[in-house]
Amino acid sequence: MIEFRNVVKRYRGQMAVDGISFSIAEAEVCVLIGPSGCGKTTTLKLINRMLEPSSGEVLLDGHPVASFEPEELRRGIGYVIQSVGLFPHMSVAENVGIVPRLMKWERSRREKRTDELLELIGLDPAQYRRKYPSELSGGEAQRVGVARALAADPPVLLMDEPFGAVDPLNREILQLEFAALQRKLRKTVVFVTHDLDEAIRLGDHVVIMREGRILQHDQPAEVLASPANEFVRQFVGVDRALKRLACFEVGDYMKRAETITREESFGRRNEPNGDGGEHPILWVTNRDQALVGMLEPELNPGSRLVYRPYVALHPDEVGVRPAASLREALSRILGQGLRAAPVISDEGRVLGEVRLSDIEELNQTGIAR
Ligand SMILES: Nc1ncnc2c1ncn2[C@@H]1O[C@H](COP(=O)(O)OP(=O)(O)O)[C@@H](O)[C@H]1O
Ligand SMILES: [Mg+2]
Repeated sequence: MIEFRNVVKRYRGQMAVDGISFSIAEAEVCVLIGPSGCGKTTTLKLINRMLEPSSGEVLLDGHPVASFEPEELRRGIGYVIQSVGLFPHMSVAENVGIVPRLMKWERSRREKRTDELLELIGLDPAQYRRKYPSELSGGEAQRVGVARALAADPPVLLMDEPFGAVDPLNREILQLEFAALQRKLRKTVVFVTHDLDEAIRLGDHVVIMREGRILQHDQPAEVLASPANEFVRQFVGVDRALKRLACFEVGDYMKRAETITREESFGRRNEPNGDGGEHPILWVTNRDQALVGMLEPELNPGSRLVYRPYVALHPDEVGVRPAASLREALSRILGQGLRAAPVISDEGRVLGEVRLSDIEELNQTGIAR
């Protein structure tokens, strides 16, 4: 979909991009990451011809971007930046409708599209359409910026540290919303960040840059498992094994869980432990099969299996959803001091469990060096 062929961008003596070659497939999120000044923004702007390369070429769908008129090119490429760039004197609806207006869509079509987009990004059109940027929170303004970039339904989206100016809590919300939106829209996205957690969370591929060059281009889990060199290793940090867990979904590592009702749990105190092996936690559920508590087996290797007294649990405090990451599961497991975390549905039903032993095993097999 997008291909860089030996692209160089020089400013007088200064090398901003120093001969990069890589490709971005259709419908993937490719995250460019690296320290400030490494050439991320320059790389992005070479795609929509806000900058022209000193040498080499950038191709879009097999055609050099230089063969398109910049205006025509940019209609197919949405652009979102950190400071949002909403026009302060225009309402939310007018901001979102800028490109459709330039494309001379008639008013009713424009308005319909604007409302559709506001809904898509989770802002109630009736409430937000007439507001002005000064009346929005940072997170809301950023959502409007995304809606504006999506207005003409471009196949490609360039995002330059779009959530960089938002506080950590709201940034995480925006990231999750963006991930959900992308699952629906399947745009080809080039996303710039300097936040490694964001790169891991959102990227199908990660391109690590330094001084205008690409050091590694890989799936996030691969970058974390086998950093290409010492710089990448330092960059991804000493806790890369933990970070890597963010690349895997609970649903893919879930095992069958033992559940019993509260009534059944009264009779399950002490039983012969025939095989002497480890026994699972018994998750106790109510009539609606929602998690209400647990019986935890004692880990003594004796001949009797002993359950500790019943402990009441709140699903949202101990459980994880299938779409959560193994990193979240691990933090639940460690936070509760249990060997496993229950996987629960939105209604609190027990779907399975994720075990500490499986997470440990995954980390041992994955990390190469
Ligand atoms: N207009 C410019 N004139 C001169 N040097 C520039 C210009 N724009 C960027 N640079 C330099 O090019 C390098 C890469 O910049 P940039 O792509 O903005 O980095 P990043 O987005 O990774 O922080 C930096 O060293 C920067 O100082
Ligand atoms: Mg930049």
